[in-house]
Amino acid sequence: MQKIIIAIDGYSSTGKSTVAKRLAKALGYSYVDTGAMYRAVTYYGLKNGFIGTDKGNLRALIEDLPKIELKFRPNSESGQSDMYLNGENVENAIRTLEVSKYVSKVSTVEAVRRKLVDMQKKMGSEKKGIVMDGRDIGTVVFPNAEFKIFMTASPEKRAQRRYKELLDRGEQVTFEDVLKNVRERDHIDATRKISPLQKAEDAIVFDNSDMGLEEQFERIHDFALRVIGKQ
Ligand code: DC
Repeated sequence: MQKIIIAIDGYSSTGKSTVAKRLAKALGYSYVDTGAMYRAVTYYGLKNGFIGTDKGNLRALIEDLPKIELKFRPNSESGQSDMYLNGENVENAIRTLEVSKYVSKVSTVEAVRRKLVDMQKKMGSEKKGIVMDGRDIGTVVFPNAEFKIFMTASPEKRAQRRYKELLDRGEQVTFEDVLKNVRERDHIDATRKISPLQKAEDAIVFDNSDMGLEEQFERIHDFALRVIGKQ
């Protein structure tokens, strides 16, 4: 059966990655979490004092971009891929609220987007059979993707999910802070000048505010099989 590219875009904490990972596994496709790439660049900036300090300096981060090497490597324990930044496993370090606070800002930087979009396009041109999630996959990275989904849910529902995730990781956060971060990121992601978050014309809108994981997966999986069957 012919393999396709599946683009899953949408607001933060809509559960894109959970459904995308499961879909990739069921179809025998690879999964690429593009948010992890923006998070890793943000983590690099924080670690080097280019952002998050009084003397924040995005220009220095841009100058350092050629030194930033990102790789996904399989993790045999989780069965997923982990993000490596210059050889260091940063899979956990990039998921903190601290990184979430700055990642939308870093994602507005043209040079950052250029570097990461180029890498993502290359991943898709090397082989099909890929599920990629992010904000601009169906619009910019793979405008010709055969199957596009745009995920959405209410900010409160998304903040609840994220809050639980962060508490499970042992972070000390308040629900109000998480909700504030969700709203701020929505605003920055949807209003930035370069490739703002928007639904591709041919994407299917999927509101999962009141839908469990199982139902989401089944619906999206059925849809994907129908699209693949038509190729
Ligand atoms: O999916 P996520 O929440 O891990 O993504 C983190 C941030 O990265 C998000 O706020 C916006 C940015 N992002 C982006 O601009 N383009 C993408 N393709 C993926 C993520």
